[in-house]
Amino acid sequence: MQTNQKLQQRKQKVIARGQGNLAPVFIKKAKNAELWDVENNHYIDFGAGIAVTNTGHCHPQIQQAVKDQIDSFSHTCVMVTPYENSVELAERLVELAPGTSEKKAIFVTTGAEAVENCIKIARAHTRRRGIIAFNGGFHGRTNMTMGLTGKITPYKQLFGPFPNDIYHVPYPIDYHGISETQSLEAINSLFKTSIAPEDVAAIIIEPIQGEGGFYSASTSFLKSLRKICDQHGIVMIADEIQTGFARTGKMFCMEHHNVEADLMTMAKGMAGGYPIAAVVGKTEIMDAPLPGGLGGTYAGSPVACAAGLAVIDIIKNEKLIERAVQIGREFQIHLDKLQRESGGLIGEIRVNGAMIAMELVKNGDANQPNPELTSKLVSKAYEKGLILLSCGSRSNVIRFLPPLTIESELIEQGLEILNNCFPDLV
Ligand SMILES: Cc1ncc(COP(=O)(O)O)c(C=O)c1O
Repeated sequence: MQTNQKLQQRKQKVIARGQGNLAPVFIKKAKNAELWDVENNHYIDFGAGIAVTNTGHCHPQIQQAVKDQIDSFSHTCVMVTPYENSVELAERLVELAPGTSEKKAIFVTTGAEAVENCIKIARAHTRRRGIIAFNGGFHGRTNMTMGLTGKITPYKQLFGPFPNDIYHVPYPIDYHGISETQSLEAINSLFKTSIAPEDVAAIIIEPIQGEGGFYSASTSFLKSLRKICDQHGIVMIADEIQTGFARTGKMFCMEHHNVEADLMTMAKGMAGGYPIAAVVGKTEIMDAPLPGGLGGTYAGSPVACAAGLAVIDIIKNEKLIERAVQIGREFQIHLDKLQRESGGLIGEIRVNGAMIAMELVKNGDANQPNPELTSKLVSKAYEKGLILLSCGSRSNVIRFLPPLTIESELIEQGLEILNNCFPDLV
């Protein structure tokens, strides 16, 4: 019989360690929010492949859309001979993107590419070089996006040099004692010491930091950034790769703030696991690059476009935006109780729809992160049948990203497993 252990050994022989895996379990089957490995062990999925299968694993409507598409054709290259579903998906995304400005879209294949393309478009539009990003931010693993990312290990270590003209400022995080005023002052100080605002092409921000630890920017902070961008002709980019597609209780997170970015990224939850990403933004900015300057061989694959259209319908028909809010409430009740009983091991709990985090600390102190407990908890959880993810610039945050189609009973069961992990670890 095939075993996880044998597969892990085979994997280690042929796949470089840089592409690590969180849990040494090899999945054979998945259905909605449940996974089964090659040994038939069962797991409740609180990770959704890192916020990708928001619509659940193997949703029948997505399966059908993909089957129908591959029966017609799987690739012609959207830049050679395009097809209707790419236009239709762009029409839907442009309509759904927050804000009232006229918009256009482009398709690429991964989140990192979407971010890279935002930078290209912002530079072409402004004819400027500088980019401002945030400490703790994560934007991908290509050279430009590594440069933008604000966490060294493991994302940047050993990989430099990075592109020039990227400047990092602190992300406002009350829990860590970083105020909005400090963040804004850091930007103003950059303008005096490092780069003139007239040389800055873009400011890129995740409205909720993903890998960074699920810290949210407030409405007032995002409005202040909007003001700085307007004042100096800087392009505001919202990286919604992790927060998009109903995850936070709105289709896109920026809707919570009523702030319209100039460009935004979309990926992950966009097509239920089929690789596709997009940049959507204001028409006059999106049209700055020359024809042929944007794209990629697999950009806007017809199979992924078919899946993407199904995802949008499912979110609407199954009311997944409302469901995300409800999921957040269900987690909140349970995690608050767990926190009270944890003897100071659980610090802040952050609930933004179904983008939920709990920070593990020592003695209830925000300044004493507990990364050891965090990694032990992730391991213990999968041993007991629960897939959990960690994150955080201090590696001490458990993030919960269940499919938005998850049943409440399964949430209960998963959280019960979480409870049962603690006595084994402390
Ligand atoms: C906010 C954000 N930006 C960019 C990326 C990179 O996306 P990808 O891994 O598809 O390249 C991620 C992935 O986790 C992300 O969360």
